[in-house]
Amino acid sequence: MQIYITRKIPSAGIDLLKNSGHDVDISEKDGVLTKSELIEELSKKEYDAVLCLLTDKIDGEVFDAAPKAKIFANYAVGYNNIDVDAAKERGVLISNTPGILTDTVAEHTFALLMAIARRVVEADAFTRAGRYDGWAPELFLGTDLRGKTLGILGAGRIGSRVAEIAHSGYEMNVCYYDVKRNKDIEEALGAQFKENPEDVLKESDFVTTHVPLLDSTRHLVNKERLETMKPSAYLVNTSRGPVIDEKALVEALKTGTIKGVALDVFENEPELAPELSDCPNVIITPHIASATEETRGKMSEMAAENIVAALNAEEPPNLVS
Ligand code: GLV
Ligand code: GLV
Repeated sequence: MQIYITRKIPSAGIDLLKNSGHDVDISEKDGVLTKSELIEELSKKEYDAVLCLLTDKIDGEVFDAAPKAKIFANYAVGYNNIDVDAAKERGVLISNTPGILTDTVAEHTFALLMAIARRVVEADAFTRAGRYDGWAPELFLGTDLRGKTLGILGAGRIGSRVAEIAHSGYEMNVCYYDVKRNKDIEEALGAQFKENPEDVLKESDFVTTHVPLLDSTRHLVNKERLETMKPSAYLVNTSRGPVIDEKALVEALKTGTIKGVALDVFENEPELAPELSDCPNVIITPHIASATEETRGKMSEMAAENIVAALNAEEPPNLVS
């Protein structure tokens, strides 16, 4: 059968599709296809399945350009880029890549936590610029993690893994808010459930967000909530950009409402909010939390397995809709 992949991905999944006897076309553009380019590509053949990325906006018009496609397999755990209702109306299956990227994203979350707490990026720039003129008692003082309180907004797979590392590796106290209570991390790690996000923000020295992007989580961290945080607190986001009101965040950084922030995701990717990158107390990485050789390869395989199952009229293992 005919499969379309919207951008080159690691080869494991492509090989799997070909070895299962399918024909694979991969977009030749080294970049994100615009919606009209994507529609044009999909109209070239009668595709039976599409492997798409989180940078592709998949809506009714896109589905209609591939009317034979049984499945759109997203190469990501988050699938806010896909209009799931439009998929349902047309009987198109949607799958994602959960589980395999949990540790990788949790590790990047810690890379950012450590880097912002210990001012690694600032200190690196300082040293490279030739400004280091000898050891000094108060040069680049940072903050310890050990014994501090980590607040987690969203205690699903990734949030729970972050809680585990914080507890076992750094003896941090963990509190969390989620619409669903997570008894496992309460029992295993002594994580404290809070009734609302404000209570997490108010009490934490570090806050990290691990919610999916939904209407209910858009601007979960807004101006009012930022103001409840301690002025010594740090915020980390490796989930989805719009979970934080970026404009309010820049304001909070400039006025000292919070101490610093480390972001892997942005509200209007790939654009950054004005002045965000001018703030010294900011670390920004370009949406790479799941970007390891190992994990991006496994994501490729997992997306392919979902397609193979759907084309065999079996239930894809990672069906979301
Ligand atoms: C990455 O952002 C993902 O959702 O997999
Ligand atoms: C993602 O896999 C999550 O549930 O945190």
